[in-house]
Amino acid sequence: MERKWWKEAVVYQIYPRSFKDSNGDGIGDLRGIISKLDYLKELGIDVVWLSPVYKSPNDDNGYDISDYRAIMDEFGTMADWEEMIEEMHKRGIKLVMDLVVNHTSDEHPWFIESRQSKDNPYRDYYIWRSGKNGREPNNWESHFSGSAWEYDETTGEYYLHLFSKKQPDLNWENPRVRQEVYEMMKFWLDKGVDGFRMDVINMISKVPELPDGDVQPGKKYAWGGRYFMNGPRVHEFLQEMHREVLSKYDVMTVGETPGVTPAEGILYTAPERKELNMVFQFEHVDLDSGAGGKWDIHPWTLADLKKTMTKWQKELEGKGWNSLYLNNHDQPRAVSRFGDDGTFRVESAKMLATFLHMMQGTPYIYQGEELGMTNVRFPSIDDYRDIETLNMYKERMENGEDPQAILEKIYYKGRDNARTPMQWDDSEHAGFTTGTPWIQVNPNYKEINAKAAMEDPNSVFHYYKKLIQLRKAHDVIVYGAYELILEDDPLIYAYTRTLGKETLVVITNFSSETPVFRLPNEITYSTKQLLISNYDVDEREELHEIQLRPWEARVYKLK
Ligand code: NOJ
Repeated sequence: MERKWWKEAVVYQIYPRSFKDSNGDGIGDLRGIISKLDYLKELGIDVVWLSPVYKSPNDDNGYDISDYRAIMDEFGTMADWEEMIEEMHKRGIKLVMDLVVNHTSDEHPWFIESRQSKDNPYRDYYIWRSGKNGREPNNWESHFSGSAWEYDETTGEYYLHLFSKKQPDLNWENPRVRQEVYEMMKFWLDKGVDGFRMDVINMISKVPELPDGDVQPGKKYAWGGRYFMNGPRVHEFLQEMHREVLSKYDVMTVGETPGVTPAEGILYTAPERKELNMVFQFEHVDLDSGAGGKWDIHPWTLADLKKTMTKWQKELEGKGWNSLYLNNHDQPRAVSRFGDDGTFRVESAKMLATFLHMMQGTPYIYQGEELGMTNVRFPSIDDYRDIETLNMYKERMENGEDPQAILEKIYYKGRDNARTPMQWDDSEHAGFTTGTPWIQVNPNYKEINAKAAMEDPNSVFHYYKKLIQLRKAHDVIVYGAYELILEDDPLIYAYTRTLGKETLVVITNFSSETPVFRLPNEITYSTKQLLISNYDVDEREELHEIQLRPWEARVYKLK
């Protein structure tokens, strides 16, 4: 397997609005980020993925961009951005920017032009259609509830928006759109950025006829995913982007690709296809969603998690490359979802980190994950900010659903769980701001915060730091082949990684119980070394049979 710096790296995601405020307006900003770079250096990460910092009216917190070449006023200036990247590079940290080009803001000058008239030169930058039988052009539902089409009076046509109505979809069939995107990418690459995370990049090519989706009983709109995800020209577009832009720079790319299978994942990431380096797949974070989608919550099972992770590990092996994540700004906090955010918060946060970082792929840490930050339960819908959550709440209230039941869904799955401010210390608003934060801090900040974690050698923070260091010291962690062991164990997730004569054995207990781990007979060794564990372990202890403690994790290296 070819060695690459981005395979050996650990990425840290910053959601700038919630990271660190430097000027007291309650909103995180670039100077706030600069002030925390030493913290990131201490953690040891190699790359920052920065969620969008471009000019935006913030209908979807920056994922609605009105100027791709300018910085959002609330975040600072281009001079601040330049200082930020320089300070990152000085510390050996690379910067990956978010590239949001499936859609723009409706306040982007292209869209302002586009809606003026049917013959405006920018008309064809977006996807306009006339209505059908007095209704929308098709029955697709937006990701943020309601129709994916918005009627525009000026020209009497509808435009497509897979997300909010302030996020019109760009028309990638138009070569001028593609050229604009490529030029804009070069603008940032020439300023020194080290790569892109590409927002919903598998949605840029739609089936041109835009056929109706299958309607579910009792629902007004339909899921049209199969007509806009992994569409007919997506690979052609990405290969063109690679040829025209990416091939000219040594950068990393990760595509956000909801709904991809491993076979599609390989199409996007196989090096000889010259598209992307890796994708974010969603199968493991969809395990607790039912047929009705994200808000149709069903408990996940360890058996399913094993199946899904193993499938991705094995199918991409030697063909593509995985990215490894349990958290990001769209997902609830992993320790609340897959671990125990009560009694065993610290143990289970470390266990989840071990489980993830020892797999094959590039690991991502989302801000606060390294502290074991948890979900939040705000008492009122008025405390929530996320457009997806608020639209869903409104729609369900209109359908007469019980408000408390809707709030329970939000507590479990809402995106604001990830967006409460980063908990820096135990002072007011967790040291995030001296003003009033745009969204409230999680009340548990007095106990869970970076300052306390840095002072405590047994903290989740120090555990992450060690995991990152191990990755630098043992090639088998990066390049070893994965094999699931104890497949049928209901509580233990264990696997091996093998490279040449070295084998890692990764043992993780996904429960508060104390199951016994038994090493399969096929695994033999002459020496063993404990690389990391989240409890004290007597190094002389035999590996053949171990009674695990709640949420215990251990990694051994065998030779
Ligand atoms: C995926 C992003 O991660 C999410 O935050 C955003 O709302 C949508 N794409 C639309 O840009």
